[in-house]
Amino acid sequence: MSEQFLSVRDAIIERRSIKKFNGQPVNREDLLAIIEDAVWAPNHGNREPWRLVVACGKELSALHHVLRDLAIPKWQELSSEDLEKRMMNFTLPGGYAFVIVPEDVRQKERLEDYAAASIFIQNIQLLAWDRGIGSCWKTPAFLDNSKFREALKVQPGERVIAMLQVGYFDEIPKGKERKKSADIVTIFGE
Ligand SMILES: Cc1cc2nc3c(=O)[nH]c(=O)nc-3n(C[C@H](O)[C@H](O)[C@H](O)COP(=O)(O)O)c2cc1C
Repeated sequence: MSEQFLSVRDAIIERRSIKKFNGQPVNREDLLAIIEDAVWAPNHGNREPWRLVVACGKELSALHHVLRDLAIPKWQELSSEDLEKRMMNFTLPGGYAFVIVPEDVRQKERLEDYAAASIFIQNIQLLAWDRGIGSCWKTPAFLDNSKFREALKVQPGERVIAMLQVGYFDEIPKGKERKKSADIVTIFGE
């Protein structure tokens, strides 16, 4: 798909979390270029509190095995058709980015770092959308599983805060209703 160059407003308003990908691979260069730009997220003290483990193309098959073992514990008992169906949540995205943040022992810094990493992730999602690449930030329980952490070489004092699935899609989901500003804003003093 060709580049879109959406306005910031259009990218924010039109982006949707994509949960149904079509299997088309994402080029690693494209994902790395997106990450290269996304790092311009605000972050306190310029700590840049993030690193990523990325999988595209040839790395995907080994990653699918790790995800299968963690997400479908009794996968051996399934027929190959059922397993293939269950695995489609994992096999149809064209790439993955796992976002890892340091867990600062100081609460303020830890919150700031999580906030900054969240902005970084939103940047990735918007920049990807601008290139016609969908994404979904997922937080399955296995992100904290020791076997998973080991597979990603996550260090003590680090936490995986996002499984970002990226890829191409055939349908754009309808936007979910949002509250109006009048419902969430109180004017100071009123
Ligand atoms: C911190 C966070 C965690 C999320 N975890 C999941 C998840 O585990 N599974 C999932 O399907 N979507 C997950 N989402 C995506 C939300 O479901 C999605 O953003 C929400 O439905 C709004 O849709 P939109 O992004 O298209 O506006 C997560 C989003 C955020 C910000």
